[in-house]
Amino acid sequence: MKKNILITGGAGFIGSHVVRLFVTKYPEYQIFNLDALTYAGNLENLKDIDHLPNYHFLKINILDAGALDSAFEEHDITDVVHLAAESHVDRSIVSPLDFVYTNVIGTVNLLNTARKKWKENYADHLFYHISTDEVYGSLGAEGFFLETTAYDPNSPYSASKAASDHFVRAYRETYHMRTVVSNCSNNYGPFHFPEKLIPLFINNIIEEKPLPVYGDGLYTRDWLYVKDHAIAIDTIFHKGVDGETYNIGGFNEWRNIDLVKLLCAQMDDKLGRAKGYSEKLITYVKDRPGHDRRYAIDATKINRELGWKPTVTFEQGLSETIDWYLSNSEWLQNVTSGNYQNYYTGMYENR
Ligand code: NAD
Ligand code: DAU
Repeated sequence: MKKNILITGGAGFIGSHVVRLFVTKYPEYQIFNLDALTYAGNLENLKDIDHLPNYHFLKINILDAGALDSAFEEHDITDVVHLAAESHVDRSIVSPLDFVYTNVIGTVNLLNTARKKWKENYADHLFYHISTDEVYGSLGAEGFFLETTAYDPNSPYSASKAASDHFVRAYRETYHMRTVVSNCSNNYGPFHFPEKLIPLFINNIIEEKPLPVYGDGLYTRDWLYVKDHAIAIDTIFHKGVDGETYNIGGFNEWRNIDLVKLLCAQMDDKLGRAKGYSEKLITYVKDRPGHDRRYAIDATKINRELGWKPTVTFEQGLSETIDWYLSNSEWLQNVTSGNYQNYYTGMYENR
């Protein structure tokens, strides 16, 4: 069947990897990248593939329901892979409503548009919603998040993502729309906006600026290389079962401080700096309010049922990521000029 796939948030970090994978792997599909180009959206992320005939860009805000309706009609959209979101926990603590608008109302707008367009024949269409492990809340020292773990979100960001997941589920139950949801752990890799831990610290190490570690630094995250997340999304899009949820993760837990020390060591090596040089930049700062202690995904289901598993080890992925930032200094300079400086001062000056 002919597919005209709408990928939302395709100019962002994960979305750009998903768009690149779909555009290059499936020349028979038409791929529509819908993005409002907020501070996190950057068409530079796709300049290597934007000339391909099956790639199309639509500058649309998902809060604009009329524009969504028109885009679905004009391009005869057959499927949705929905990544557009406000995605940064720290920003959600400062401006929760922005997260309600985009993540909740924006998602409901998209569901409404898809429902109007597809209601005669839901079976031929898929609404795939990309979510996060943060909806499950925080773990103690033991255990993993399963697909059946009860939702227990703690930040305005995770609460807004949880709400959007529930709306997707409700549209399936109520209107019988075909849906799948996946909940992934922390991603890292090329094109990651330098407000999140790994790219922020890479940038600060390059610039020899302090590395602001929140609280005691013993918070734990489960890291996955972004290209492996994109492959998982491709797998779920094609093989996922209607109504199912899939957890995606790398069985790769790191305490923040250990990860930061590994990053410092790899970067000292690559930059020809003395061993231990960058570790001296580590600065413990005031904790994030409501900071979740530990995330860890049990990714057994997607492995067992769909055959997906990560292809890249953490050491490899981190090394490739650092190399990418070191050889793309222009990209880094472009995204850290202008408003980024105001963000950085506002977020860190009083910590
Ligand atoms: P990102 O912040 O890098 O990109 C978000 C994209 O959405 C940007 O291109 C932005 O311009 C666009 N966008 C924001 N508001 C919009 C709106 N109102 N209308 C249209 N476009 C809008 O985010 P990311 O890290 O790539 O995350 C993508 C998705 O994956 C999100 O749904 C996020 O919740 C989820 N996720 C992220 C991670 C992670 O570690 N980054 C892990 C699990 C799940
Ligand atoms: O778990 C998936 C989630 O991972 C995604 O849903 C989010 O979109 C994504 O942003 C990410 O959320 P985190 O809050 O875990 O990521 P962040 O990079 O902001 O922080 C990672 C850890 O590092 C967290 O424990 C907070 C800490 N941290 C972060 C920053 C920015 C610091 O210690 N210092 C910092 O300056």
